Amino acid sequence: MTDLRDIRFAETDLDALTEVPGKVAVLVPAEGTMGPSARRVNKLSKGALARALESEAWGKLSAGDVMALNYPAGMKAEAVVMVKLPRRPSVEDARKAGASLARSAGKGEITVLTDGTRRAEQVALGLGLKGYAFTARKAEPSETPAAATIMVKSVEEADAAFADTHAVAEGVFFTRDLVSEPANVLGTVEFANRLEALRDIGLEVEVLEEERLAELGMRALLAVGQGSIMPSKVVVMRWKGGADEAPLALVGKGVVFDTGGISLKPAAGMEDMTMDMGGAGVVSGVMKTLALRKAKANVVGLVGLVENMPSDRATRPGDIVKSMKGDMIEVLNTDAEGRLVLADVLWHTQQTEKPAAIVDLATLTGACIVALGHDMAAVYGTDEGFTNDFLKAAAAEGEGAWRMPLAKSYDDLIKGTKGDVKNTGGRAAGSITAAQFLKRFVQDDMPWIHLDIAGVAQVTKDTTLAPKGATGWGVMALDRLIRDRFEAQAKAE
Ligand code: BES
Ligand code: MN
Ligand code: ZN
Repeated sequence: MTDLRDIRFAETDLDALTEVPGKVAVLVPAEGTMGPSARRVNKLSKGALARALESEAWGKLSAGDVMALNYPAGMKAEAVVMVKLPRRPSVEDARKAGASLARSAGKGEITVLTDGTRRAEQVALGLGLKGYAFTARKAEPSETPAAATIMVKSVEEADAAFADTHAVAEGVFFTRDLVSEPANVLGTVEFANRLEALRDIGLEVEVLEEERLAELGMRALLAVGQGSIMPSKVVVMRWKGGADEAPLALVGKGVVFDTGGISLKPAAGMEDMTMDMGGAGVVSGVMKTLALRKAKANVVGLVGLVENMPSDRATRPGDIVKSMKGDMIEVLNTDAEGRLVLADVLWHTQQTEKPAAIVDLATLTGACIVALGHDMAAVYGTDEGFTNDFLKAAAAEGEGAWRMPLAKSYDDLIKGTKGDVKNTGGRAAGSITAAQFLKRFVQDDMPWIHLDIAGVAQVTKDTTLAPKGATGWGVMALDRLIRDRFEAQAKAE
């Protein structure tokens, strides 16, 4: 699938600079003080760099921004790209610089002179992530961008640090590919196949087929998929990198296409529902990252894969279905299907995996987009410490996240009339009542976070680290959460 640009670190070789093809980038701190490479480039280009650094335009740039000098004298390079970046940049600025370099490089070669600036592995991450393009469904998919070389003081140190950020980039690319694929390509069968392929990198992968789901009593999940020709599936991915502690469970909504079912969605924009497996996509991306970087934690990922279709066999509004937990659910609107899928997967997760904590992710409600737009995901949590740790992790990774409330008064809105619970609570507080619905399927003492990612999984504008389209939002925040809360713990013991 979409491959990451090859990024390698090398010893700085100033004498070879005249012959470097493609673009040459130099990192220059805000004050414009030139390091040895910048001085050499300046000399070769007969002072062009120094003049540029004195310009008003350079002064106005922020950290991570770039300015280019095209066809410099004295060098084979097509351009010298100056990157404004402090010598000890924040993670955010280093990644932004990398993203700017990806834009400068396009598909061509680029060589980056760091002059000892820290966090080269974060520059590399930004460079990799921003170079994503989903072209797998073009008659002629575009080639992976040319390799990038980053010249650093210690290749060994940079390689070691990049091993982890590279794994993150691979996970994000995996998520973006899954989210970008249309449903005729990425149906439930193909999705499960792609997850089974993760066995190659050391994950344990188990696929539960419809027959088994029926035995387990997952009738809420099956009710969503029963109108479709595609078989419903639950895929369990286990990464056992820790000791014998209970795992963190990640649970994802994987509706490969959401027509709304009998409560059919309007035609305009329905094509976007190809991304309604975004939660499952993020879970899959995180699991891939954990395996690639051999995380020292136990994490299990579960995704419920279904297609929500209208047909003669489809669930009707008014139907009452029994969940695996036993609660009877009144399906008032077949378009509120994600919560039905998650109800059963959440319950199954607690029964069989005995997790220490659960995070679920879902493109759950349009109401979430009304509330928070496309910059922040809605965060719901039952455990203050756990929820705050997630919010911290998301902030550290630059992924927008905003806490939302849970309260009994919202739960009252979904009280059942004929059954125990209704699958919609009306227009008011739509993202919250959906969260309250899920909470009914989480045991009281279980630390649990629900992330409504409807607005952030796919966007129509470029973001700092991604072109428009699938973002992979959440892979970095969850990887950070696991690092800081679960792996750090393992180390301390
Ligand atoms: N998958 C949608 C939510 C969604 C909408 C995600 C837009 C991404 C972009 C979900 O299944 C849905 O249809 N929710 C309904 C719930 C309603 C019927 C209670 C909604 O938000 O309208
Ligand atoms: Mn729906
Ligand atoms: Zn949906």
